[in-house]
Parts: sequence; structure tokens; C-alpha cells
Amino acid sequence: MARSAPRRPLFARYYAHVAGPALEKAGAARHRRSLLEGLTGRVVEIGAGHGLNFPHYPPGVAHLLAVEPEPRLRALAADAARAAPVPVEVAGARGERLPADGASFDAAVVSLTLCSVGDQAAVLAEIRRVLRPGGHLRFFEHVRAVTSGTRRVQRVLDATVWPLLCGGCHLGRDTVAAIRDAGFTVTALRTFTFPAPGPAGTCVLGTAEKPPAPAPPPERSGPPRPSGRGAG
Ligand SMILES: C[S@@+](CC[C@H](N)C(=O)[O-])C[C@H]1O[C@@H](n2cnc3c(N)ncnc32)[C@H](O)[C@@H]1O
Repeated sequence: MARSAPRRPLFARYYAHVAGPALEKAGAARHRRSLLEGLTGRVVEIGAGHGLNFPHYPPGVAHLLAVEPEPRLRALAADAARAAPVPVEVAGARGERLPADGASFDAAVVSLTLCSVGDQAAVLAEIRRVLRPGGHLRFFEHVRAVTSGTRRVQRVLDATVWPLLCGGCHLGRDTVAAIRDAGFTVTALRTFTFPAPGPAGTCVLGTAEKPPAPAPPPERSGPPRPSGRGAG
């Protein structure tokens, strides 16, 4: 990894044994299934954690590169990969610098990750780089609240304890705007409350498309057109 991996052993333990299971108990599996439904081909998941998405990948996925920078979570993800229904390769890297060639994936997946990355714009630029033209980003994220009162609470928590307690997580990010700013077209979007109303309760689940490659110019037939003055 170019920059040192974020070692967050306390958060890793807390997420793997407390917060992650609590999310699943609250019904996260339903959203994970919806996030991954219909995916095919080569897929990259950024910030895979300990692999809670793995059981839900559909059989059309030929290869999943699961990127996780936190060592403890990555080790647990490697265990989960062995039981996954699709071939999973777990790699240690940050989303800001993905270990992949340009245009080498059909789809990318983020779930509850863009709230935590150090540089959201850099991660989205990397995702765009590794996706083929017309490839899709699937996202399930908690985001900035709709009401101004809850936004105020999010701002206060983001500026104080929340990122420290929750592995770098931020509550008030406008992630859908960031996805658009990165050059994606959002083609499906659902906003809902999960797991409960409150500062971490506004979720979005959707799909964004990397623009397709521009069509090549049509081949000219016939003699070359005259150029210069008088050409009309
Ligand atoms: C709340 S956990 C979500 C894990 C998993 N995606 C899930 O749905 O259960 C946030 C994850 O983002 C990862 N993360 C934090 N910074 C990252 C970065 N710069 N690049 C990639 N992943 C990152 C953390 O290590 C952690 O696994």
C-alpha cells in the first residue's frame, strides 16, 4: 500500500462483533441483497470490512476483488471469502489507490464506506478509473440528513467525537452529490431510514453509471472534401 494502512483495531473489533451484527439484526441483509442484485462479471468492492456483503453476491459474478485496508477486518474478510458463493480475492489497499488496471471492472460496490474514506473525491475518481465505460457503481450509504435540525446534530458530531469513535466515519456527507461530481450519472436512487431515525439514519441505495465510451467518428466514404476558401 502506498500510504500506511489505517490500523483501527478497536473499531475493527467493535464493527465485527457489535455494530456489524446489530446492523444485520436490524435488517441490513435485505438492503445488501438489493444492492448486489443482478451484478455480473468482474466486480470490485471498496472497504469490504469483514465481508458482510459476500454471501449476497449473485452467481453471475465471475470475480470479486474485495479491497479492505484495515488488517483485522481484512483477515476476517479472507475467512468469509472462503464461504462465499462467488470467487473472492481479498486485497489490502485504500480506495484512494486501487490495485487494478483502468477499465478492468464491470461494476464497483460500496456499502457504508464512503462515509469513512479519507478522501471521498479521490476514491470516486479511482472507482471511475477502474470501471469500464458504461460500468456501474452500486452504493448503500448513510448520508446527510434531510432536516436542518438533524444536519446540525450531524455537523456537531462530525466535528467532535463521531469520527474518533467510529473508525473515521462522518455523518453529514452529501455522498450522492459527490458521486455526481465525480462524473457518474445516477440512474437509480432510493432514500430511506435505516437502521432507525437519528443522525446516522438517512440512507441511500442506488446505482450510478460511468458514461459510455463516445462512439467513434463515422468513416468517411467518397473523395476527400475540398478544404480552404470556397469550400462552402
Ligand atoms: C462501517 S465499515 C463498512 C464495512 C462494509 N462495507 C459493510 O458494509 O459492512 C467501513 C469500512 O470502510 C473501510 N475504509 C475506511 N477508509 C477506507 C479507505 N480509505 N479505503 C477503503 N476502505 C476504507 C474501513 O476499514 C471499514 O471496513
